[in-house]
Amino acid sequence: MPTAAHAHNGPRDAEAPPLIEARDLVKRFGGVRAVDGMSITLRRGEMAGLIGPNGAGKTTLFNLLAGSLKPSSGSIRVSGREVAQEGPERRIARGVGRTFQIPRPFAEMTVLENVLTGGQGQAGEQIWKNFLQPGRVAAQERAAVEKARSLLNFVRLSGLESEPGRVLSGGQRKLLELARILMADPEAILLDEPAAGVNPSLLELIIDRVLELNAQGKSILLIEHNMEIVARLCGRVVVMATGKYLTEGAPDVVARDPAVIEAYLGGVAA
Ligand SMILES: Nc1ncnc2c1ncn2[C@@H]1O[C@H](COP(=O)(O)OP(=O)(O)OP(=O)(O)O)[C@@H](O)[C@H]1O
Ligand SMILES: [Mg+2]
Repeated sequence: MPTAAHAHNGPRDAEAPPLIEARDLVKRFGGVRAVDGMSITLRRGEMAGLIGPNGAGKTTLFNLLAGSLKPSSGSIRVSGREVAQEGPERRIARGVGRTFQIPRPFAEMTVLENVLTGGQGQAGEQIWKNFLQPGRVAAQERAAVEKARSLLNFVRLSGLESEPGRVLSGGQRKLLELARILMADPEAILLDEPAAGVNPSLLELIIDRVLELNAQGKSILLIEHNMEIVARLCGRVVVMATGKYLTEGAPDVVARDPAVIEAYLGGVAA
């Protein structure tokens, strides 16, 4: 790039590119177009919802945004940079973290160790440094453990840090996932049905933690079927059906939209 990059700094700040901007995404599985020309934007600092009937392609879209699947075609920009061909590690390094619809913690690892697996760029990941710089590795490991503990405290799982992952309930697994992805300091967090299968007491805790993360400045895109929860969390909801963008708007407006109701009824009938 030419050195003129500095010339536009001031006025251009207001026009900074969205954190995530996906355009015309297509993902084919054989003959099935699970995502079929979908576009979506996540602005810096916002908490937006993604809704749509079962099989609409929401999780597949997340897999594309998180880099665990490559699109058949289309563009994904993170802070203006094209990343569609990059894998999940690069995507995490660029600040995009995601949780899974059905979290599967490592069953025999402790809760603390599970959180530690979310760390990025620790010196200990490069084996040779263990020999050349053992002191540095030890210090980084201590810092990582401290960070993992503070994140476990944030999700209120500190009391379980030495328990194996398998003992956690569905809701606790969702909280563990949240702590795990926070190890990498994501700017954007993609939450795939954070409230599904969670008992009512943990549900309020999860909602509270998600609100707190957004208040701390994290940009959040969440898939959720429960419209009451979507309405509490999101100012803007994007609706997806049969792999395509349908509409978007305030949750109460979208929920009354005949095209949205029709899409859900069609989904039930299918
Ligand atoms: N790996 C895959 N191979 C083949 N088909 C797939 C694959 N993953 C998803 N699909 C299909 O793509 C479509 C979209 O699935 P997806 O899981 O993205 O939907 P969803 O909107 O997340 O649904 P739900 O609300 O039930 O979680 C479905 O028809 C699904 O069967
Ligand atoms: Mg899904």
